Amino acid sequence: MQIDLLAPAAFEGGQPHEQYRWLRENDPVHWHAEPNGPGFFALTRCEDVRRVSRDHATFSSEPTAMITDPGDQMPMLGDAKMMLFSDPPHHTKLRRLVSKEFTPKAARALVPRVKELARQIVDAVIERGECDFVSDVAGELPSYVIAELMGLPLDDGRMLYQLTETLHAAPESQPEGAQMGAAANMFAYSARLLAEKRKNPGDDLASKLIASEIDGQRLGDLDFHLFFMLLIDAGGDTTRNLVAGGMHELLRHPEQLARLREDLPGRLPSAREELLRWVSPVVHMRRTATRDTEIAGTPVKEGQKVVLFYGAANRDPAEFERPEELDVLRTPNHHVAFGATGAHYCLGSQLARVEIDAMLHEVLTRMQGLELAGGVEWLPSSFISGPKHMPVRFTP
Ligand code: HEM
Repeated sequence: MQIDLLAPAAFEGGQPHEQYRWLRENDPVHWHAEPNGPGFFALTRCEDVRRVSRDHATFSSEPTAMITDPGDQMPMLGDAKMMLFSDPPHHTKLRRLVSKEFTPKAARALVPRVKELARQIVDAVIERGECDFVSDVAGELPSYVIAELMGLPLDDGRMLYQLTETLHAAPESQPEGAQMGAAANMFAYSARLLAEKRKNPGDDLASKLIASEIDGQRLGDLDFHLFFMLLIDAGGDTTRNLVAGGMHELLRHPEQLARLREDLPGRLPSAREELLRWVSPVVHMRRTATRDTEIAGTPVKEGQKVVLFYGAANRDPAEFERPEELDVLRTPNHHVAFGATGAHYCLGSQLARVEIDAMLHEVLTRMQGLELAGGVEWLPSSFISGPKHMPVRFTP
């Protein structure tokens, strides 16, 4: 079997499940070539993904959790580190600064507001009878919610989210320099925000971050910018792709959609978890070996990269019964769509669940007769998987 887990083309219609299956069965710790790099081990079995995720001492998130090394593209960061690209104990200190805002209790407190925003999003399209489900529906909520948490105008949330999309798309799929441009715009926005919130602090996460301290020292400007980028980046197209990709799957599996509709409030939680398993919007994260070690008997040398393919782990028959079947009633469902526990387990998982439930509930109760109205275009990305455009129609 021809294996290429980097080509954006492999993700054009969803994730490359044929390749994943072959790898899981034949070469679960597969040495994968890299066009401009040394190559990496691709992990496709759930057990291996879990083991590596839990052992940050042996499998580090520094210098990055992306496959490509930062090299000299990265602006000079000094000692500043993005939480996602750092290891304990520093990672723990960074995570503590924001974790209170993302507890299950904090997420529950946001439910009424998130539901209200979901209602407004559907209100804005419902009389049209058609729309692009990705940009008009699924993409709106996550960008609004993170904008509100950070204390920004909702429209800025939408603009920042478009920058995120450019950052996550494969470089070859867009004009030269587009990614650097998007990163520069993001930094410029963050710098304006920092100045503004320093002058007029509010009761928002940006103001709290600015006032926070690590080891008795105020958070540096660069640390703030990296937090800002991560928070804007992490919750936007991930949640959007789950809602749009999940709805796409429900439309392709009408019997599952019918089963969900039979008891929408009661079945939404298991359906949401199953869609997370099935869609796995984050394709992979990378770790780097800090010492010579092995994974399932394959030697891994210090400095070698190890890439965790969550979508592959989420269809591992050793972990899931009937893994190739979408089953909205599946329980238990220990998927790894939010990571496989460990230090970096998705900070926003509870918030994402609140957003997904609110949006799917609103769509399924109000957008009657929802169906595809044209071809679905997929994101040209081997990092974030999901539809980019999904024309739909429904009864106005
Ligand atoms: C369906 C939606 C989402 C999915 C599938 C998802 C998935 C992930 C994954 C796979 C990781 C890395 C886990 C690891 O390396 O072990 C992660 C980390 C993270 N996620 Fe999410 N995420 C989602 C929504 C959100 C939302 C709404 C937020 C809120 C801002 C968020 C914030 C973060 C942050 C800050 C991290 C880094 C945590 C750390 O390094 O300690 N995510 N997410």
